[in-house]
Amino acid sequence: MCGIIGYIGRENAAERVIYGLKKLEYRGYDSSGISLVEGSKLLRYRAKGRLENLVSALKNIRLHGTTAIGHTRWATHGKPSDENAHPHTDCTGKITIIHNGIIENYYEIKQMLLKRGHKFTSETDSEIFAHLIEENIGKGVEKAVQAALKKIRGMYAMVILHAGEPDKIVAARKGSPLVLGIGKNENFIASDVPSFLKYTKKAVFLEDDDMAVITKQGYTVLNNGKKVSRKITHIKWNDSQAEKNGYPHYMLKEIGEEPQAFEDTIIGRFDSDRAKILFETVNDARLRKMKNVRIIACGTSYHAAYTTKYLMEKYSGLNVSVDIGSEIRYAAPAVTKDTLIIIISQSGETIDTIAAFNNIKKRAGYSIAVVNVVGSTLSRELDSVIYTHAGPEIGVAATKTFISQLAVLYLLSFHIASLKGRMSRKKIRSALKSLRKIPGYIKEIIKERKKIEKIGAKYSRHRDFLYYGRNINYPIALEGALKLKEISYIHAEGYPAGEMKHGPIALVDDKVPNVFIAPVNALYEKIINNIEEIRARDGIIIAVTNRSNKTMKNYADDVIYIPDIDEDFYPLLAAVPLHLLAYYIGVKKGIDVDKPRNLAKSVTVE
Ligand code: AGP
Repeated sequence: MCGIIGYIGRENAAERVIYGLKKLEYRGYDSSGISLVEGSKLLRYRAKGRLENLVSALKNIRLHGTTAIGHTRWATHGKPSDENAHPHTDCTGKITIIHNGIIENYYEIKQMLLKRGHKFTSETDSEIFAHLIEENIGKGVEKAVQAALKKIRGMYAMVILHAGEPDKIVAARKGSPLVLGIGKNENFIASDVPSFLKYTKKAVFLEDDDMAVITKQGYTVLNNGKKVSRKITHIKWNDSQAEKNGYPHYMLKEIGEEPQAFEDTIIGRFDSDRAKILFETVNDARLRKMKNVRIIACGTSYHAAYTTKYLMEKYSGLNVSVDIGSEIRYAAPAVTKDTLIIIISQSGETIDTIAAFNNIKKRAGYSIAVVNVVGSTLSRELDSVIYTHAGPEIGVAATKTFISQLAVLYLLSFHIASLKGRMSRKKIRSALKSLRKIPGYIKEIIKERKKIEKIGAKYSRHRDFLYYGRNINYPIALEGALKLKEISYIHAEGYPAGEMKHGPIALVDDKVPNVFIAPVNALYEKIINNIEEIRARDGIIIAVTNRSNKTMKNYADDVIYIPDIDEDFYPLLAAVPLHLLAYYIGVKKGIDVDKPRNLAKSVTVE
């Protein structure tokens, strides 16, 4: 997510804002910028890359203004560059804005503004907001912002400065956080608390549809045009706690962000009324011609790939194979001009995956990258790229990026099925209805995380775990086992439950916990047979099943419940308790779960 900071007061605004941006660096970003008012002039400085590039650009410039806004950008639309860096301005250069979130309908608004003669200088969705304000700035910046907000759809934390009214900053939020810092004759507006904690611990958290007008003396908050009061919260965190939003570790914070990451990734990519799925960057005509699919990835991304195999084959009828990057890069895979290649990588820099793609790209028919980092190598190498909008993931373990990858891949599976004429509008609508339930259901699972913490503590001293799933839940067994290995250093293996009798059952005794992903579905009775075979040998059973299943407690030592949903959607829910289980066991063992030994966030070496 982008970092936002605004300052209005008596002190040097540029110093306050640069300090605030430094405290927001942990959020991850690829460019930064600052706008400030000097007299009636609006000054703006932006720089691609690290924040120090912006600081060095300001080194020989004396800035005196006492009102400024600053931004660190995590690119979602448009590559990292000076031109795409925030703040953005309107045509007059008097209005400047910074934005965190996604404006879903920016493209149609941009076309309308272009027709009205507006000139744009960036590829971003955010820039259109400055021009929308310009349309009504004659009514004053507050009214102009209100009019602009009525025109956009999507999620936003928006902060606006108008050189003609330098005694105020206007801010508005919907879906992306914004918080005021209340000082003595100075006030702050920011995406989160660390940016102003040094100056004040008094915070006012804005709510959805709030618009705040901030002056050096104080602030007012309107919600849908009506004045509202928002209580002052006294922050007790220190800086480091604040960077994790009060969570003890980034990993837990990022698991907590899984609902938002899912929502941010699907938003703007489907139209329920028309029962359509929309990927702006994908060439449907070329996609429709593909007759088979190869999906290539590593690690957790490979588990997303494997889940997609079940989905895509079931819904589109295409032949789908999944390959581990380090294997296929040295193989001679059958790739023809009617093969769709899908590459999945949260970092977009995994060398094995890049090399694998290079090994086959000339023979493929069409290729799509599913990545989280805008401008990363894999986002540039393929015919098309679909970004996950999980925001930066600081913890080494992939958690919210995995959920975001699945969000894209579920939509893509249904989209291809629809293009192939294999999925009716009615089925698309039903599938979209299930997808829209996911963020809320993940929130429910996270709310009950203390139960999972207890189960983690109970089994944290075991030395081997086995994870089992069937069909579309098998890749989630692989994911659960990988997370446990990564985060707790406990040996764990994932297996198709049907494979148990072909070997793993030899490992069963009263020391090995067996984790089953066992929602009630067509294969539930088979799973129960597996569980009975383990219980007959004094094995330990931990089961993940759906809430309405009242029988599992008769079979398992511990049960983790997830909400009921159509059976093909359980992977999106079952992964969450397994991420939490690995996290709590790792913490119980005193491991640095954000930086586990020997691992890197992006494996850019062989
Ligand atoms: C996942 O928790 C691990 N950090 C690792 O397996 C990771 O998924 C793998 O290295 C692939 O990374 P990528 O998605 O950036 O390509």
